[in-house]
Amino acid sequence: MALKLKDDASELLLDRTRESSRLYQEACEVMPGGVTANIKYFDPYPILMKKAEGAILQDVDGNSYVDYLLSYGAMALGHGHYKVTEAVLKQIMNMGSTMFGTPHQFEIDLARKLIRLYRGIEKIRYTNSGTEATLLAIRMAMAYTSKYKIAKFEGHYHGGFEQVLVSINPDVSKAGSEDCPCPVPESAGICQDHLENTIVLPFNNLEATERILRAHADQLAAVIIEPVQAGFIPADPEFLQGLRQITTELGILLIFDEVKTGFRVSLGGAQEKYGVTPDLTTLGKVLGGGFPIGVVGGRADIMDISAPAGKGDLFDAGTSKRRSDDVLFHSGTYNGHPSILSAGLATIEVLEDDENFKQIEETTMTLRRGIEQLFDHYGVPGTTLGLGSIFNVVMSDKLVRNYRDIQKTNLNLRRELDYELLNLGVYTKPLNRYSVSLAHTQKEIDHTLNAYEVALNRVKRRGKL
Ligand SMILES: Cc1ncc(COP(=O)(O)O)c(C=O)c1O
Repeated sequence: MALKLKDDASELLLDRTRESSRLYQEACEVMPGGVTANIKYFDPYPILMKKAEGAILQDVDGNSYVDYLLSYGAMALGHGHYKVTEAVLKQIMNMGSTMFGTPHQFEIDLARKLIRLYRGIEKIRYTNSGTEATLLAIRMAMAYTSKYKIAKFEGHYHGGFEQVLVSINPDVSKAGSEDCPCPVPESAGICQDHLENTIVLPFNNLEATERILRAHADQLAAVIIEPVQAGFIPADPEFLQGLRQITTELGILLIFDEVKTGFRVSLGGAQEKYGVTPDLTTLGKVLGGGFPIGVVGGRADIMDISAPAGKGDLFDAGTSKRRSDDVLFHSGTYNGHPSILSAGLATIEVLEDDENFKQIEETTMTLRRGIEQLFDHYGVPGTTLGLGSIFNVVMSDKLVRNYRDIQKTNLNLRRELDYELLNLGVYTKPLNRYSVSLAHTQKEIDHTLNAYEVALNRVKRRGKL
């Protein structure tokens, strides 16, 4: 991974990624915007990867990168961990098929592990993505409480459906006041009804949150929250505890969306780290070991409303008891897919080894301290922020506690650094958070910190520091 010097970051990127550029043009002919998920796009075009091993990605032009995107945090063991590969191959060989479309043993085995690890989980259901998990959790909350509004926090992402595609990255000038944010749609095609039925709350501001919740309590089924906003802005412990108390008092269910924080902030997620028990929890990413998965878990009395036995649901085979609206509908051809659950079981087994989990956290801290020392050395107002094995690089010397604070940091400087780092073999999507894996070693950390130093010098030379 030789470091090549040239001044303009984007020009150099174009030079180094010609094959990506060519393939991207082709992709645009067959997919809108050339991508299958909008998040994969960045200017001038996304880099196409062709191979990965451990902590390293290789692109179609042959450039190597230390990978901190890790598929948006999912690859906690790094790429191609032998235990995961072995488990999946064994599942297919031993079971004779990738899936049966019936219940099977792995469903019980993985459920037992999650119930043991997560203080808020007594029963679970599998889904195929984090988005499906949050969607199901919200429907469960509505069915359980017979109330039909939800509240979410400004700046928090819970997947790609109407009820939660609200105020994730809003234009602050349209988003109302800091302590009483108003709902801003985050996609074309969001019906006004959803904006009226999703209440937006200010993160880490207990007083304002309580005021808004009290005003809407009799219509609110649930509050959904990323306990660590965007995976890197930790909730104040008193804030989470206070939120738990208020929601309990008002009869509003509390959903911890731990799709990012599960198995990263600690093995038992943010709920373990903070000692706060939600009513429902959603998981995904790391749990799939590199395959698509989601889970909703929670209190047995809530989860049990999706049990069809004795009541029947819309797929009920001809019993006279059939009443679709007695049961919460939840189904999916691929739910609890055996190959995916075997990858998840293998991943959790590796992470359950304390030494492994500690190693990922320590590698993360070494990297974070290294970046912070470089910022100090170069007099750059910047720091790192996060918990466990996820963090972000924040270009500000002010405290960052919520979405509005992030908007006041120097995002242009961060972007400049990110593009330089791409040219220097350090990969995360520009402006995205960093995730670290078991496969990251001192060698990758040294490479990253060297690249940071070169990047800081280049940005400084261009007068952007
Ligand atoms: C907190 C959170 N919830 C839900 C989701 C949606 O998960 P998926 O992309 O698997 O649908 C994400 C994805 O990044 C997430 O970070």
